[in-house]
Amino acid sequence: MKNIIKKQVTTKERIINYYEKAGLDYAAWSQNFNMHFGYFKFGKTFPWQLEKMLNQLTEEVRLRLKLDEMTDPWVFDLGCGLGSSSRYMATKNTDAYFYGITITPWQIEFGKGLTKEAGMEERVSMIQADYTNMPVAGGVADAAFAMESSCYAKGADKKDFVDELYRVLRPGGRFVITDGFRKNSRPLPGWLNKIYRNNLDGWALTELADINLFAERLKEVGFKKIKIEDVSWRVAPSFAHIPFITLRFFWNWFFSKNRKPLSKERIENATCPLWGMLMGLARNHFSYYIISGEK
Ligand SMILES: C[S@@+](CC[C@H](N)C(=O)[O-])C[C@H]1O[C@@H](n2cnc3c(N)ncnc32)[C@H](O)[C@@H]1O
Repeated sequence: MKNIIKKQVTTKERIINYYEKAGLDYAAWSQNFNMHFGYFKFGKTFPWQLEKMLNQLTEEVRLRLKLDEMTDPWVFDLGCGLGSSSRYMATKNTDAYFYGITITPWQIEFGKGLTKEAGMEERVSMIQADYTNMPVAGGVADAAFAMESSCYAKGADKKDFVDELYRVLRPGGRFVITDGFRKNSRPLPGWLNKIYRNNLDGWALTELADINLFAERLKEVGFKKIKIEDVSWRVAPSFAHIPFITLRFFWNWFFSKNRKPLSKERIENATCPLWGMLMGLARNHFSYYIISGEK
């Protein structure tokens, strides 16, 4: 008899499945497995230097965390991917300890290999956990950051994520978040809503945060000195690389020896950034922000 009962896939299973299937393809975007966009800074980067811009976004996060003013800080990398940002920061702050948190087991395995290769095992570790429920005592982190990962948390205000961020930071501890946000909760025009839904599906997301609700939640939970910077024009030059990277990905796949059919996740991972590019042009509805503050 045919099994007619469809397995209910949880949000977490969807995220893990996506990152396990498409994870290695991030190599087409970044040789260091940076799984985020880049930051253009005049005098530091040029728009054609993608890897430099990707590292520059991490540098902007590091500067806002003020790690240089801390002694032997414990830094949490929430939704750490393969740990590229932690390893980058570890080269700049040689007295800091980094704890990467991700729910994807494959990322822990592969990320630990990259950390070993870089000789950083003493100061960069990775833990498989949900960033909304971490197996650590409250107040242990001196600093915490989330680069393009808070978007995976539940709801338009990402309450569970913000509450847990507040719990793990010590008083005076700093946080930085970088991500794409909705600018308001006005309904999107039909064509844009379709693009938005495609983008969410492809990246195993449920909904982007609303910047106003997110900021309100940060205040409500008790964060101080909150700073919200719209850096959309700074990340735009890295968006401009997307069509070329997507083309190159399909070209390399097509001409590869032992070519195997691409999974749905791999195709969506390669095409999703194109939807993201179009969303980026809808300036009334979406923006990219760097948000920082202190407990
Ligand atoms: C786009 S990647 C960003 C990775 C990394 N921050 C970077 O910039 O290279 C999103 C990451 O969030 C992680 N993630 C999603 N939901 C999570 C959760 N509930 N707890 C921990 N990690 C989560 C995924 O496993 C993935 O590593």
